Amino acid sequence: MENLLEIKGLSKTFTLHNLGKHIRAVSGIEIDVKEGEFVGITGKSGSGKSTVLKCIYGTYRLEEGSILYDSKRFGPVDLARVSETEMLYLRKHEIGYVSQFLNVMPRTTARQLVKQAILEMGNDECVADQETVKILTHFELSEELWDSYPATFSGGEKLRLNIARAMVKKPRLLLLDEPTASLDQESKLKVKVLIQQLMEEGTTMLGIFHDLEFMNNLCNKEYKMERGSFSLQGS
Ligand SMILES: Nc1ncnc2c1ncn2[C@@H]1O[C@H](COP(=O)(O)OP(=O)(O)OP(=O)(O)O)[C@@H](O)[C@H]1O
Ligand SMILES: [Mg+2]
Repeated sequence: MENLLEIKGLSKTFTLHNLGKHIRAVSGIEIDVKEGEFVGITGKSGSGKSTVLKCIYGTYRLEEGSILYDSKRFGPVDLARVSETEMLYLRKHEIGYVSQFLNVMPRTTARQLVKQAILEMGNDECVADQETVKILTHFELSEELWDSYPATFSGGEKLRLNIARAMVKKPRLLLLDEPTASLDQESKLKVKVLIQQLMEEGTTMLGIFHDLEFMNNLCNKEYKMERGSFSLQGS
């Protein structure tokens, strides 16, 4: 495969059973992401941006189209058609996702959450402990929060933890759904620094950004969503 990710003719319709209605969220989506690229998605609220990322991550099944991904473990696979076991493997080891809305696991401390993510990538305990401290410090989560449950964290603290957990894995492909949307300028900068660092280490990223200008000098290309379909900007 020439690209790490190739989306062809992706369409997704939602059926609202109670209303007997169909909503065509996206159609005919085509995206190419080369290995090592940072690709941005912009567009109005409700235009279907999150739907595309959720199709890639396997949260939604699509009706039409294919999502080719060049897996390290399995070789080229169609994410729309992989088995559940394969998808779970890929989520654990190759594809990361930062969702727009955070749902935290109950009864797991911030430290455990991050450490668990690192261990899943096959690192040993000692490395995991060190890396956990490093990333929690980077995102300025105060030390007294490390061993508490994220359920009581503020919105921004939850978000920073969520990003820390996804980024610390250094996945091959990282999907970001507005990771900086509700953060203050300083926290946004921290996210940007890590994105830059991950790029240098070879992580490929596809991210939805409300404020792509903020990321502009990092972004290799931009797709703009308009009422459910995509167009490539510039170039
Ligand atoms: N699970 C679902 N069931 C029914 N409709 C859905 C579902 N998920 C998304 N939609 C619809 O699909 C359309 C696109 O939603 P999506 O969340 O992808 O938009 P978005 O571009 O991410 O918007 P925002 O910028 O507000 O996050 C919307 O009209 C939404 O109502
Ligand atoms: Mg969205």
